[in-house]
Amino acid sequence: MMGKKRILICVTAGIAIYKVVDVVSRLVKKGYELEIIMTEAATKLISPLVFETMGNCLVHTDMFHNGHHYEVEHIEIAKRADLCLIAPATANTIAKLANGVADNLLTSTLLAYTKDTFVAIAMNTNMLNNIATVNNVNILKKRGFKFINSNVGYLACNTYGDGRLAEPIEIVEEIDRYFIKKDLIGKKVIVTAGPTIERIDPVRYITNDSSGKMGYAIAESAYNRGAEVVLVSGPSKLNISEGIKKIDITTNNELKKSIENEFNNADVLIMAAAPCDFRVKEQSKEKIKRKEENLLLELIPNEDILSYFGKIKGKRLVIGFAAESNNLIENSKRKLENKNVDYIIANNITEKDAGFNVDTNKVKIISKDEIIDLPLMLKSEVANKILDLI
Ligand SMILES: Cc1cc2nc3c(=O)[nH]c(=O)nc-3n(C[C@H](O)[C@H](O)[C@H](O)COP(=O)(O)O)c2cc1C
Repeated sequence: MMGKKRILICVTAGIAIYKVVDVVSRLVKKGYELEIIMTEAATKLISPLVFETMGNCLVHTDMFHNGHHYEVEHIEIAKRADLCLIAPATANTIAKLANGVADNLLTSTLLAYTKDTFVAIAMNTNMLNNIATVNNVNILKKRGFKFINSNVGYLACNTYGDGRLAEPIEIVEEIDRYFIKKDLIGKKVIVTAGPTIERIDPVRYITNDSSGKMGYAIAESAYNRGAEVVLVSGPSKLNISEGIKKIDITTNNELKKSIENEFNNADVLIMAAAPCDFRVKEQSKEKIKRKEENLLLELIPNEDILSYFGKIKGKRLVIGFAAESNNLIENSKRKLENKNVDYIIANNITEKDAGFNVDTNKVKIISKDEIIDLPLMLKSEVANKILDLI
């Protein structure tokens, strides 16, 4: 992770408080140091002991009990934090912060706190849309508070609407993004991901096992590091940050055209998609009927898209992937040369926990001059190693 960063978690009395236990647990696993303040009302919903145990940290609840030491607690807590997260953030606490009220340890600390604050808002839809809340949120936004928007969904009050706390994973991603070095600002990165599909007839097709996980991880990391990102994606169930331009494609032809449309002012192309190498020579317009005799399909090679862009890359950096089941290095080196690309990320798909449809990968980064052999890592970690090449 990004060094030991200390996050002050301010917990107020919203019913989504149980999800914040998960946020705390995830942040601890990622190596953040935490300190927690709960309002008195919040302690009526969940015991501070739960947060103390999951956060592996001090939980403060009382303004006038400072643990028998001489520090003025709300001032010292404010100084120690690198970032503050208010989650869940109630309408009540938001109103107090907007008006500079400091009537408990949480609001007093935040009045003395000078760095950035994320606010994960959560409440009933009517409370959220109430003009008082809307005005208070706007005041805090103008003051630089960063709101993590609530989601639309089923609420604890048995209604459906806006006001659900963002999912723990979304909140943690926001925090990760905040601390990540922004070394790709000003770079345009095109990433391809997922499989392509080549139709045989209206109901049948050729494709492969690619889930898109590697490409999506690269796109997300590049975005987090400040790049302008275009993700050209074959069919995939994965979600991607709103700030990333996503272009959905199915066939090899569409993949090539979509890259071509973005290539002119791009700095980097990372081809993590798994395009089909072949398509049927003649796609049937009608569903091919079942027969007793064998059916022969003539397959013809698809255009080699990596090679096409490698040849016209100019000053751009082009990185390709090689999923191999044998002669990994030899085949990858040949690809590197024949296709005129700068790096090949080679993985042996027969290895356990590497390749298609898993969250981890074990790759070698191959360039003209060297081979970097990386250990088994999360795809998000591999993504950052690849982006370090830029
Ligand atoms: C079961 C329960 C659930 C609540 N959920 C929310 C909520 O999701 N959002 C909210 O703004 N207030 C909610 N409230 C109201 C707050 O708890 C109340 O306004 C309280 O005064 C907030 O105090 P605090 O901001 O100091 O934590 C809830 C109250 C109860 C009893």
